[in-house]
Amino acid sequence: MSSLTITPPKGPLRGVLSLPGDKSITHRALILSALAEGAATVSGYCQGEDCLNTLRALQGLGIAIERQPDVLHISGQGRWGLREPTTHLDLGNSGTGFRLLTGVLASQDFFTVLTGDDSLRRRPMNRIVDPLREMGAKISGRKGGQFAPLALTGNRLKGVDYVAPLSSAQVKSAILLAGLFAEGTTCFTEPQLSRDHTERLFRYFEIPLEVQGKTLVLKAHQSFKAKDLCVPGDLSAAAFFLVAGTIVPGSELMLPNVGMNPARTGIIDILKDMGGDISVENVREVCGEPVADLVVRAASLKGMTIGRDRIPQTIDELPVLCVAAAFATGETRVTGAEELRVKETDRIRTMVTELKKLQVSIQETEDGFIIQGGATLFGGTCTSHGDHRVAMSVAIAALRADSSVQIDDTDCIETSFPGFQGNLLELLTNSC
Ligand code: S3P
Repeated sequence: MSSLTITPPKGPLRGVLSLPGDKSITHRALILSALAEGAATVSGYCQGEDCLNTLRALQGLGIAIERQPDVLHISGQGRWGLREPTTHLDLGNSGTGFRLLTGVLASQDFFTVLTGDDSLRRRPMNRIVDPLREMGAKISGRKGGQFAPLALTGNRLKGVDYVAPLSSAQVKSAILLAGLFAEGTTCFTEPQLSRDHTERLFRYFEIPLEVQGKTLVLKAHQSFKAKDLCVPGDLSAAAFFLVAGTIVPGSELMLPNVGMNPARTGIIDILKDMGGDISVENVREVCGEPVADLVVRAASLKGMTIGRDRIPQTIDELPVLCVAAAFATGETRVTGAEELRVKETDRIRTMVTELKKLQVSIQETEDGFIIQGGATLFGGTCTSHGDHRVAMSVAIAALRADSSVQIDDTDCIETSFPGFQGNLLELLTNSC
């Protein structure tokens, strides 16, 4: 099990960073390219373990995928071209890969077993199993299908009019992907807009998807042709360096080619509301997604209240926002974020536990955090609990500690951001 030791820099952080491809878009690009008719490339893809698990699962389903460092060549086999895998599909740590593929595989005329690592097997699957069963899916699993492994006996599905009780892009995408194979129309409504990469990719592939008020409407039997795709850099990966550049005095970091999907940009809006200095430059559109170059400069932050209405567009960045809040003046409160409890770890619990070890004044609430800013952080030893975003958030907090911080169990960083340690260590070396 590897560990990472961060020695706080003596000077500012400066440089240009290269980010991994967007993880959410890469999962969808892989799956939709496999279901498309014909061959195509996906460039700039995320090489994190989560996406590689989706890639390997598709290979297990008979899809030829050739992997080069920056580009994938995928031979799409059309909607009915997947083949029964000879063994279970292991999605590792990836909730997105697991839930989206369940949506696809529920309708196939073969049998599949999907599983994952210890963390994934603890995460709720009833949120996709219930609506898929309404569509006619035959799914069994632990605790009646609440937890992986799930066994799917493919069945012809029918459309559904599903009003989701929570905003979740994974649930939305599972239902929309199942809807590609269903008889009749599939309608999906969620309380607040979650990231809409699936909808944007449907449009890019010219799959007609109507928006009627807050409801997505997908008509039956949509075949589509393969199309080359380009994946932008991951804003969720950029977030760690947006906070690093803000909290280390005198810093200036440039982050080129970052995805700016408006359902993901909560981190930028909130840091700016707290007093952060982030410029969004050269905004353009790539394959239906907004993309920009970001420049972050060090700034003094003030605490604020982050309510439920801002959670979906910030959900994965809340751990590193706790770090920003620790260095702000005054109090920051996060409410309405109970979804954090069912991520790779219970991120309310794990972030509070780890930041307390560094003497941050942070308190756990049922649905969020209360953080008293202005912290002086002490060095020490922390653990990631096997959660990539906890590991990276603690590493960013360590930049302002009074001495070195060791973070144990950091292999998990590979899940989403293989170049994280290299990027950070290079900035630290240059800052001395
Ligand atoms: C994701 C959706 C979000 C997010 C996850 C990736 C996706 O989860 O937290 O990291 O790619 O669809 P939920 O859909 O459960 O909110």
